Amino acid sequence: MRTVKFNVPFLSGNESDYINEVFVHGEFSGNGRFTKQAQQMLEKHLSAERVLLTHSCTGALEMAAMLAGFGPGDEVLVPSFTFVTSASSIMRTGATVVFCEVDPNTMLIDLEDLKTKITPKTRGIVAVDYAGYGVDYDQINLICSQYNLTCIEDAAQGLGSDWKERALGTHTRFGAISFHQTKNIHSGLGGCLVINNQEDVSKAEMVWERGTDRSAFFKGLVDKYSWQQVGSSFYPSELQAAFLCAQLEQIDQNLSARKELWNYYEELLMDLEKKGSLKMLRPPKNSRHNAHMMALLFPSAQEADDARSYLNEHGVQAVIHYVPLHSSPMGKKLGYTEKDLPITSQAAASLIRLPLHLSMDKGDIEYIVKLLQEYCHVER
Ligand SMILES: Cc1ncc(COP(=O)(O)O)c(C=O)c1O
Repeated sequence: MRTVKFNVPFLSGNESDYINEVFVHGEFSGNGRFTKQAQQMLEKHLSAERVLLTHSCTGALEMAAMLAGFGPGDEVLVPSFTFVTSASSIMRTGATVVFCEVDPNTMLIDLEDLKTKITPKTRGIVAVDYAGYGVDYDQINLICSQYNLTCIEDAAQGLGSDWKERALGTHTRFGAISFHQTKNIHSGLGGCLVINNQEDVSKAEMVWERGTDRSAFFKGLVDKYSWQQVGSSFYPSELQAAFLCAQLEQIDQNLSARKELWNYYEELLMDLEKKGSLKMLRPPKNSRHNAHMMALLFPSAQEADDARSYLNEHGVQAVIHYVPLHSSPMGKKLGYTEKDLPITSQAAASLIRLPLHLSMDKGDIEYIVKLLQEYCHVER
């Protein structure tokens, strides 16, 4: 039986050579030549004001929440359908997370629901670019200016995507990107904070450098560095940065190969979509995507479950995605019940993700689509 893994981490081939260079230079701890090189590559790729590598996207979200100045008594609006740390990064500042519905057609935060949840205590929004698809940032920025809110763009899955021809991660005050091994481009674990306003740069560098002005010291701006504010140890080691540089060099090839696979899925799945058996999660208007994910929405949770089991039984590692945060044990501790966000609960349960990585080929996609056709004909 053919087997297809859900994910196989991408390797460019140059990672170990670059890691060997770290040994040659003998600088391991971070913020060295590879960190600077990766940051510059990302600043150029994103056309961003400043990028700081972090040990994870979670770290970048935590930095952004600190820099936004959220704290006790503040409310921040977050989609319930997201990764845990989109919410926990906010809660670590003492602020309260208020969960919003997603639009079941895009799985992106529902801006109509969001507007109904704005109160005098609301200070911010976490906009999650699910599947590397861009939220409507014209709307988000309008809401932010109307209510004086700070938006953090959680573009964990978004490297290589853009919205209205501007890279994801650059649409609001802060963006956060992941380089976890499940992402298109990775460093095992890793991430970066994208700082989109010049005024935030020096404070962000201090928070990043354990709360000290060490970055200013290295630029020759102060003659010794000292503790300036609360920060943490947010950057990765040079070993991870070297690995990341080797990956970033091949971002264009990576994206076009992924796009070819995504398009092939789309072509072959069209018939099932026309019959109403399933729907492909497609990018919304103005969004050019990075082929990070092929997600399918089934007419019901039961059908999604059965289709996934059928694929799994035949060697294909199709998987679910997030359990909505409001219905998690932690969400319940926060006072939510399953019924509070019914659209999100229903949509999340009806979604499955198919394998998509550069160690698979078109034959794997043909096999997966054939299994889906078999499953749908049996069921209908
Ligand atoms: C939307 C979202 N935000 C944040 C994260 C956290 O990323 P990391 O694992 O790099 O901390 C993820 C991880 O996949 C994610 O999907």
